[in-house]
Amino acid sequence: MNTASYPSPHTAYELRTAIETARLVLRPLRRSDAELVVGWRAQDAAQSLRPQPTIAEHLAWFASERRGRVDSATVEKAKGRPSGLVNFRDIDEAGQSAEVGKLIGGPSCRGRGYAQEATVAWLMYGFGELDLERVDAWTRSDNHASIHVDVKLGSMVTEERRFRDADARAELRKMTLTRQRFLEALREIDPSLAPMLSLARTRLAAAARRQR
Ligand SMILES: CC(C)(COP(=O)(O)OP(=O)(O)OC[C@H]1O[C@@H](n2cnc3c(N)ncnc32)[C@H](O)[C@@H]1OP(=O)(O)O)[C@@H](O)C(=O)NCCC(=O)NCCS
Repeated sequence: MNTASYPSPHTAYELRTAIETARLVLRPLRRSDAELVVGWRAQDAAQSLRPQPTIAEHLAWFASERRGRVDSATVEKAKGRPSGLVNFRDIDEAGQSAEVGKLIGGPSCRGRGYAQEATVAWLMYGFGELDLERVDAWTRSDNHASIHVDVKLGSMVTEERRFRDADARAELRKMTLTRQRFLEALREIDPSLAPMLSLARTRLAAAARRQR
């Protein structure tokens, strides 16, 4: 990794306060989430584009600086237990871009709209507080649920690639979302949220002015 493009450790991007949605709370990923996260990732090995870590590997990664990325857990308010995670990787501060990831763990949590609910909140954080202009997500082309959520939130396919020549299923799509398209999608999905994104940007601009 070229650390010049990914200058800051995860602490620079972490949520300062938890984000609350109708059914979820997004808070920074914790060491104690390790077993759940490794279990979810093993269960989704077929969809994953990355190697599956052991608990020891996950913990070593968690304790590292995790430069250019930030990871949050999504916790079900009703049950008080994590239901999944969201992240931004390869954060490029100069280019105002990042790769976004989402995972809703366990079959009992799937198909209930949690991915959409968590991703809307996470994108508001990325486009508002982290001042991103563009996020990308690489997804297998047969990951219909993920692509459906991405398209609903305004993403467009900007690139297609084969993952492994031997695997006919393994076609990848790059889903790209700009702040402007997300704002337009947000006005359709939940018009009450769009002004909050503008507010986050106003706060950010004010903070930048104070630093000058
Ligand atoms: C992809 C994933 C995040 C979806 O989580 P989820 O909480 O079940 O998703 P949601 O319930 O919010 O939304 C799923 C949407 O996809 C739709 N969907 C589900 N299966 C579908 C299919 N085969 N074709 C088209 N749409 C489909 C659902 O109808 C729903 O849309 P709606 O809300 O408009 O009705 C989850 O399956 C997961 O974590 N997978 C493993 C990790 C992964 O693939 N991450 C994405 C790659 S970065």
